[in-house]
Amino acid sequence: MKNAYERIVRPLLFAIDPEMAHRLTLGTLSAASRIDLALRALTVFRPPLKPKKLFRLDFPNPIGLAAGLDKNGVALPAWGALGFGFIEIGTVTAKPQPGNSKPRIFRFPEQQALINRLGFNNDGADAVARRLRKLRRSGRWPQVPVGINIGKSMSTALSDATEDYLYSFRALREFADYIVLNVSSPNTPGLRELQGHAALSELLAAIADKNVITRKPIVVKIAPDLMPKELNQIVATCEQNRVAAIIATNATVEHSPIPPDKDEQGGLSGAPLREKSTTLVRQIAAISTIPVIASGGIMDAASAREKIDAGAQLVQIYTGLIYRGPGLIREIAETLE
Ligand SMILES: Cc1cc2nc3c(=O)[nH]c(=O)nc-3n(C[C@H](O)[C@H](O)[C@H](O)COP(=O)(O)O)c2cc1C
Repeated sequence: MKNAYERIVRPLLFAIDPEMAHRLTLGTLSAASRIDLALRALTVFRPPLKPKKLFRLDFPNPIGLAAGLDKNGVALPAWGALGFGFIEIGTVTAKPQPGNSKPRIFRFPEQQALINRLGFNNDGADAVARRLRKLRRSGRWPQVPVGINIGKSMSTALSDATEDYLYSFRALREFADYIVLNVSSPNTPGLRELQGHAALSELLAAIADKNVITRKPIVVKIAPDLMPKELNQIVATCEQNRVAAIIATNATVEHSPIPPDKDEQGGLSGAPLREKSTTLVRQIAAISTIPVIASGGIMDAASAREKIDAGAQLVQIYTGLIYRGPGLIREIAETLE
């Protein structure tokens, strides 16, 4: 049976352009984030407590908001009120940037999927830091762990990527419970090359060097389109550099579930990604004790359960939230031990 969001809200949102629907929703949640009464109203979606501890952080439940939905951190209190167990904002880059030309988000309702090629449109690290500082002073900072996902600015050469990540790291670390190095977006040319051993080691060593006093958990987000050999190498590099967790996975560049006449360039997310990302979670868990945060095709309780059974400690949702609404958080939480 369809929930109220699927029956009433989704048809309205799906009647308008995907990016417009996104802006409208985020604008509403951002406005709600400044009004106590509105925040209280959002708590109707809150799931039961399913506490979890990971890298010395307390999560009220293991269901998080995946990166990309609130790139600029404009609605943190609302995400907390809705009942997310943790919130990841970003991807934030060192320089503000507009992203790729529009249209750049596409819905595929039959496949319960999205394709996006946003290209890290965001306000830049300094502006996001200012916004987070203001939020902290307001007393409305959410009660759950907040991760900040950082990536490379489009205009920065791949050879200068480390400096670019370091800039965002320095600007944002004080607000983050954990920092994610996004080396897996398909929409910034060359970015995924940073998953290679030499480049990833250089990046992780440089971040570790500047992470001595604050000591934030460093998390690496990987692509689903990796050969087993490449994955083994990434896991080994993460272990060598004491990475706190791996997020598996980002969106895929493999679009075979989408009819060719409707296909678009970008990263495919949602139901068609489910199996692929679960396979990666299972492969990582088989070779390492490094904690895994699963992301990819979690559309209902069964697909979340599948990630946990495959070895994930935490899960994140994005496309599932667009198709199923905030009721999905409770639906998943209720089936977890
Ligand atoms: C419109 C859109 C924008 C995204 N932007 C980002 C981003 O900025 N950084 C990032 O690490 N992942 C981004 N993602 C990937 C999601 O965080 C998630 O890893 C991926 O979509 C798989 O999960 P899902 O199937 O639940 O959507 C984006 C996904 C979508 C659909």
